[in-house]
Amino acid sequence: MKIVIAHPDPAAGERWCAELSPRLPQAQLATWPTDWTQADYAIAWKPADDFFTRLQIDRALFSAGAGVDHLLRLPALPAQLPIVRVENAGMGLQMVHYCALEALRVYRQDDAYAQQKADRRWFDRELESPARFTIGVFGLGVLGAQVAQALRDLGFTVIGHSRSPRSLPGIECYAGDAGLEPFLRRCQMLVLLAPHTSQTENLFDSHHLAMLPQGAWLVNAARGALVVETDLMLAIDSGHLAGATLDVFQTEPLPETHPFWVHPKIRITPHSAAATLIDETAEQIVGKISSLERGETVSGVVDRARGY
Ligand code: NAP
Ligand code: GLV
Repeated sequence: MKIVIAHPDPAAGERWCAELSPRLPQAQLATWPTDWTQADYAIAWKPADDFFTRLQIDRALFSAGAGVDHLLRLPALPAQLPIVRVENAGMGLQMVHYCALEALRVYRQDDAYAQQKADRRWFDRELESPARFTIGVFGLGVLGAQVAQALRDLGFTVIGHSRSPRSLPGIECYAGDAGLEPFLRRCQMLVLLAPHTSQTENLFDSHHLAMLPQGAWLVNAARGALVVETDLMLAIDSGHLAGATLDVFQTEPLPETHPFWVHPKIRITPHSAAATLIDETAEQIVGKISSLERGETVSGVVDRARGY
């Protein structure tokens, strides 16, 4: 069995090989670029555009992350090749920590207290019950459902939105186009955790951002392509939104000249909300390769028509 690992960071490629080889001692491993012209499987993160013009993959293409937008855009991607994504593998808990940190910072008025410290002003701010703070999670899949339930367990009122109807205990769920406006109208904090697809691209434009309540906070831990960045800036600068926490951007790395870097009401992290844990992910992928080799089906196969 031949497996190619394509990762833009050569050290990560080596790490993948070190995790895979003891688990699959019979496999031949190569990191991209390679002189191989054929392999059975590939594990890839943002591979080069010529990947499929130089290499034939016969069995399956594994995303090294939860998102698959970086693979679906590849030129010459074979139409019938199964694409399999990472399902959690330790990302859910990281995403819980990221979103809970932001929820607590906003709910506990952390920025205002930081300013008070700078001004040496001692007074406490009114704090309502967390149940009166409504957080909306857009995307209730593997990561969104875990985040929604963790935020609910912190005492917040949590609502969710997905493409198709979902049911989660203690969380009011909305779905589809019809559910979007009533969902957004309630979100004092909106957490984006849906994939980048043709349906979600630029969905959060001036029209939809205007549906959020005055003073809402946006957290984008999904993909930069979901948000129209100029519209977000206008929504914040006009005072409609209180601010945003952004982990992902239309262009990554975020260009040095981008106005988000210096905006006082925008918090930035460098696409680090939930990293791929290579050991846990290798374990998951090896399990799926073994199932495929036995002729079994695996979970996490991308529906190309849906885009995730
Ligand atoms: P998932 O299990 O496939 O869940 C995706 C969720 O989004 C599903 O609930 C899906 O609805 C919903 N969705 C899809 N299209 C929608 C639409 N048009 N309107 C409303 N909801 C829609 O994916 P996941 O593992 O939770 O990951 C979600 C995304 O997080 C990934 O695609 C990736 O882009 C991002 N991510 C970011 C980081 C980071 O570090 N920033 C790390 C990991 C992942 P249904 O339930 O109806 O299918
Ligand atoms: C990270 O962004 C991922 O999709 O895993």
